[in-house]
Amino acid sequence: MSQLFQPLTIRNITLPNRIVMSPMCMYAVEAQDGKVNDWHRVHYTSRAVGQVGLIMLEATAVQPNGRISAQDLGIWEDAQIESLRELVQMVHAQGAKIGIQLAHAGRKATVPHSIAPSAIPFSDRYETPQEMSQEDIRKTIKAFADAARRAEEAGFDVIELHAAHGYLINEFMSPLTNKRLDGYGGSVDGRYRFLQETIDTVRNIWDKPLFVRISANEYDEEGNSLEVFIDYARRMKAQGVDLIDVSTGGVVSSAPTALFPGYQVSYAQAIRQSAGIATGAVGLITEPTHAEDIVHNLRADLVFLGRELLRDPYWPRQAAKTLGVELTPPASYARGW
Ligand code: FNR
Repeated sequence: MSQLFQPLTIRNITLPNRIVMSPMCMYAVEAQDGKVNDWHRVHYTSRAVGQVGLIMLEATAVQPNGRISAQDLGIWEDAQIESLRELVQMVHAQGAKIGIQLAHAGRKATVPHSIAPSAIPFSDRYETPQEMSQEDIRKTIKAFADAARRAEEAGFDVIELHAAHGYLINEFMSPLTNKRLDGYGGSVDGRYRFLQETIDTVRNIWDKPLFVRISANEYDEEGNSLEVFIDYARRMKAQGVDLIDVSTGGVVSSAPTALFPGYQVSYAQAIRQSAGIATGAVGLITEPTHAEDIVHNLRADLVFLGRELLRDPYWPRQAAKTLGVELTPPASYARGW
């Protein structure tokens, strides 16, 4: 029997299956006000009709200077809650769950006034960020907490903290980007502290599932090793994180030398086994039998699909056919199914 289509309960939320829409920026906010528009409503609700179990909203900025681009979604002020709430309701009406990826782009922000743990630009095409003071750190962690409160008010089922791909939290975690000499750098403990305090403050007000996306390979010999990420994962588990969504790269410009189906799955499996925490696998997973293998062989608990769900919003319906699972049609199709 297919495991991919088995429900999974995490804390107080039951996902109808193990298929997750990976967070993907749509760069579709025209007014630069961070608010959901018709594109988001069509795009995300289509995947809910397609029977994705959990839809993870794209990187959503907790502060205006934390946007990757001026077209990013935002959750930095209360005026943004209403359009998010409507989107949550539309997705829920199709039986899917919906999470939000809370993000701060740090030195990879392309809007003015980027900030980072250390004043080192990502490349010569990026602004040199302002090194954060302890006051900046306090305010930014509070911005994550305020965003979590807004996510709660909007009715989201899951929060995912974006600690991957070289954005702000990742910049604190990596020795490649964090050269601080105060308590927020200098050692594995120091580099973990920004994420640690962010998790604690979010966990204080959020009792639903909490995921963290990490980049488990920095593709640089001086970067964090997998052993460090296993240590980080143990810490996160102890703090009440429910699942680690395991990606790689983006901290510096070096990239994997080989891309192949499931090229990041082994990291999700290693963290799951060594840290004893649920994981999500992502990256070039396109075939239903491959997704089934990942969850059935306990390599990961959830399968995140990115580009394949852009190509085919109804992928889960096709996957169900391949795996011999019968799905209920959307109510409005029932007569003609
Ligand atoms: C992404 N990705 C991404 N990741 C993330 O954590 N937050 C984000 O907002 C985005 N934005 C984004 C936009 C677009 C257009 C793409 C294609 C990708 C990465 C994505 O979630 C996923 O990890 C990768 O695409 C690898 O998975 P696939 O596409 O091979 O299934």
